[in-house]
Amino acid sequence: MSSETRPKPKSFVPPINRLHEFDADVTEGFDDAHAVFADLRGRCPVAHTSDFEGFWVVTKYADVVRVLADSDTFSTAKQNVVPRVATSGRRPPLHLDPPEHTPYRRAISPLFTAERMAGWEPIVRDIVSRLLAPLVEKGEADICVDFSYRLPIFVLAEFFHIPPVQAEKIRNIGADFNRALQVKDTARLEETSLFLYDVARDIIAARKSEPLDPGADPTSALLAARDGNGAPLPEEMILGTIRQLLVVGIIAPTTFTGSMVVHLARHPEHFAMLKDDPGLVPAALEELLRLYTPYRGFARTAKTDVILGRRAIKKDEPIALAFTSANRDPDAFEDPDSFRLDRASDKQHVAFGLGPHQCAGAPLARLMLRVTLEELLGRTDGWEIVGPTPMTTWPEYGPLSVPVRFRKG
Ligand code: HEM
Repeated sequence: MSSETRPKPKSFVPPINRLHEFDADVTEGFDDAHAVFADLRGRCPVAHTSDFEGFWVVTKYADVVRVLADSDTFSTAKQNVVPRVATSGRRPPLHLDPPEHTPYRRAISPLFTAERMAGWEPIVRDIVSRLLAPLVEKGEADICVDFSYRLPIFVLAEFFHIPPVQAEKIRNIGADFNRALQVKDTARLEETSLFLYDVARDIIAARKSEPLDPGADPTSALLAARDGNGAPLPEEMILGTIRQLLVVGIIAPTTFTGSMVVHLARHPEHFAMLKDDPGLVPAALEELLRLYTPYRGFARTAKTDVILGRRAIKKDEPIALAFTSANRDPDAFEDPDSFRLDRASDKQHVAFGLGPHQCAGAPLARLMLRVTLEELLGRTDGWEIVGPTPMTTWPEYGPLSVPVRFRKG
């Protein structure tokens, strides 16, 4: 008798990983993810879906913060993203739990200080201006395809001190990797991932023969770093770190810029307010990051059976941290769906995470996004959306394409 036809015992309970409380593998419109999360926060704040091999999602701010703070129970070492990306290699710092994670962060964090960012501002502004000027001149553009897919790759090429020929290769392959991730083309994903490893290998070889100041160059900083015992970091882990930095910094700025542009097209009064007083841009950026948080699928895996939000999660089950949802939780943010610049009494948003894995590149991301907003405000009188805005799916949130017609400034 097959297991299908065998009678089930009376007390039969479906295995936990078959529970399906929401659909994750769906085509969405711009506001749909927020509607799904609002529903889940109300009826089932820690929910399970059988989509993407099965995973839990944590939707409330307090639960997300609890998981982020407890790396003894919730590990990034096994599955740190939903859906799982089946590519090879452990890539610090994200894939390591503390204390193994610590020396990698200690090596790269000094590259992102406020002082260093001040030095980067003219470079970033120059790149943004060169990309944006011809688009505004033309009068129409796809903000994602023509601008925000390209900006972070140009910036990261400068950040790694990569020669122009290699930078061009990264731009192309970075875009390919992005596309493969979106359409879940596993073969292409693996291929581009391996190519990015080759690029990272070349960068390490170049820095070994021509070292740069570890205070200004990420590869030189990793080569100079020592672990808790005073030993150099293993070379394959340095490789993994560079490979991770090449990708993790590209995708979120791309879709999030699209979301900012959609918001300002929908709210010309916010555009006018910021154009009138550009000093409000940094606060507006934080509010937009809260409202349109681009990550919902960074994940942890339970190291033991654990109760979270009154749900029993089993050892080894993946748990997505829906930053996109936590940042609109009414228990953390008053009037959470509104754009407001007077949120001093609310909680700190978690668009960049919190705890040991909090985004290492957040200062550079904020710089790129602030300069983008400033240049869009300065160069135009606004824009209208002139075509469909297809959306990314898990693990991100945000549009992949935003065709606009500019009103010239
Ligand atoms: C809008 C832009 C960005 C957003 C919203 C964002 C968000 C995040 C979040 C939420 C995490 C934490 C993941 C977790 O806890 O599992 C993270 C980690 C990370 N991000 Fe970003 N990120 C952005 C841009 C960047 C950029 C530009 C860089 C680098 C140049 C970068 C480098 C990293 C790194 C290295 C980590 C891993 C940190 C660790 O594990 O210690 N990110 N990011």
